[in-house]
Amino acid sequence: MPNATVPDATVRFSVGILGTGWVGASVAMSVLHAGFAGELLLSDLRAELAEGEAMDLAHGAAFYPAATVRAAPFDELLATNALVIAAGRGGKPGESRLDLLRDNARVMRDVGARLRDYRGLVVVVTNPVDVLTYVVAESSGLPVERVIGTGTMLDSARLRQAIGEALHVAPHSVHAHVVGEHGDSEVVLWSSAWVGGRPLRQWPGWTREREAPMAEQVRRAAYEIIRRKGATNHAIGLVTAALLRSSARGERRVQTVSRVQRGALGLHDVALSLPTIVDTGGAVEVVAPELAPEERAALERSADVLRDAIRSIA
Ligand code: LAC
Repeated sequence: MPNATVPDATVRFSVGILGTGWVGASVAMSVLHAGFAGELLLSDLRAELAEGEAMDLAHGAAFYPAATVRAAPFDELLATNALVIAAGRGGKPGESRLDLLRDNARVMRDVGARLRDYRGLVVVVTNPVDVLTYVVAESSGLPVERVIGTGTMLDSARLRQAIGEALHVAPHSVHAHVVGEHGDSEVVLWSSAWVGGRPLRQWPGWTREREAPMAEQVRRAAYEIIRRKGATNHAIGLVTAALLRSSARGERRVQTVSRVQRGALGLHDVALSLPTIVDTGGAVEVVAPELAPEERAALERSADVLRDAIRSIA
């Protein structure tokens, strides 16, 4: 009889990944290296692709924390603790994320309808991630806290890296948020950016003139990568694994993730990214940021862009 006071070590956090293309495969590798999941299930309509990825990842088992990884039919993903949706088509060079909407919305509606009884966390990665997060939340009927889009968590990471590089400071010490659409209408919150214990705008050598070019560099990052290599996958894989870990461990980190908004900053009827506490229950509490007037106006515009996109597929 196992000792009742010792946690049952056989209870392993399991992650399902639907879609094992560029992004899904990178999410899988990042999740395995993060070490919080004991089981990884991969599923794809291209069953042999999922099998091949699972075999390839499993062969590296001696080099990441203990975990099993295997291909599985969609229905087995319904028994996982977290389900990453990376299915659908990626953007072609020059395509905006909203250009993918019609094709990927159909896929997401079907997937959402099959998640109505799912009890874990749903993480949407497929673009346009904000609109598709809204579609999955609606079609699944799951609580909005448990349907999270990676949203501008990746853009905030890109911004932190760019600021860190400019100031020769580790991005880990840069606290700066991108909010709104994960896309062309995203908003950089310069007014609340901090580096170490100091507002960015009081950092020696920082000037306002650096802000617009850097915001554009962050906004265009995916286009520049897709033009060169055909897709983006590594950073979004790392971001998704960090988001899952935040939830799995109940870290209560504030992440700029996308979810259906229920009134924060007066926002309703739209899914977009705001700084939000991520816990075992998902994106549980929006931490509404202080906004400069121009940031508030830009966020409203971003919300309008996304509401128009939602209406276009209604
Ligand atoms: C990017 C994709 C994930 O920004 O939208 O790289």
